[in-house]
Amino acid sequence: MSDARRDYYRNLAKITGYRSRSAYKLIQLDRSYGIFRPQYTVIDIGSAPGGWLQVAKQQVGVDGIVVGIDIVQVQPIEGVTILRGSIVDNRLISSVLKIVERKADIVLSDLSPNMSGIWDLDHNRQISLTRSALDMALKLLRRGGTSVFKVFEGESLDGLKQELKDHFQRVYINKPKASRQKSSEQYIVCFGLGQEGSGKDNLDDT
Ligand SMILES: C[S@@+](CC[C@H](N)C(=O)[O-])C[C@H]1O[C@@H](n2cnc3c(N)ncnc32)[C@H](O)[C@@H]1O
Repeated sequence: MSDARRDYYRNLAKITGYRSRSAYKLIQLDRSYGIFRPQYTVIDIGSAPGGWLQVAKQQVGVDGIVVGIDIVQVQPIEGVTILRGSIVDNRLISSVLKIVERKADIVLSDLSPNMSGIWDLDHNRQISLTRSALDMALKLLRRGGTSVFKVFEGESLDGLKQELKDHFQRVYINKPKASRQKSSEQYIVCFGLGQEGSGKDNLDDT
């Protein structure tokens, strides 16, 4: 993405009140794939400063439930529950389940590690975080549920894509316009957890 386009989304976010330029990536993915429905329950992993949480809350409405998780603090958003903790901490799962009371319709992950600038290192750290997000999604998502994972390109990506295809019925890769062309990030949108056509259609429904 050119600097002009990057500035365009940054300025747009400022004008429209979104906390991050990233909000537009999720809006564009939703326009392409129809991710959200009113009243859905959404869990957003790696949610600071909160742009995706704002978009999710707008889309699911007052009767929807949105929970955000991040290791850094996220300033409150009306109607959204925010938990502070690391994705690798298993205790988060029971905290989330207490809030949502039933399994989620959507799990989102826009996780990024602290960037070193070394492509391979950043790629491996990011994919490792995404695998933790997938583990969490498999525990928190209902059968037939939807997930969106940010990933960095690199040698471990094919293995992760295959894993996602084992769990979900339909898996799409997309780079939304609001994502910088030069960045190695892409988004994997996955529909139909544990449904026919996925590698695993025998998930526990509870
Ligand atoms: C690109 S930002 C997310 C932006 C967000 N989607 C938005 O629209 O505002 C990535 C986030 O991942 C979080 N993160 C990195 N490692 C994490 C971990 N182990 N557990 C939870 N969050 C983590 C970072 O703190 C950071 O806030």
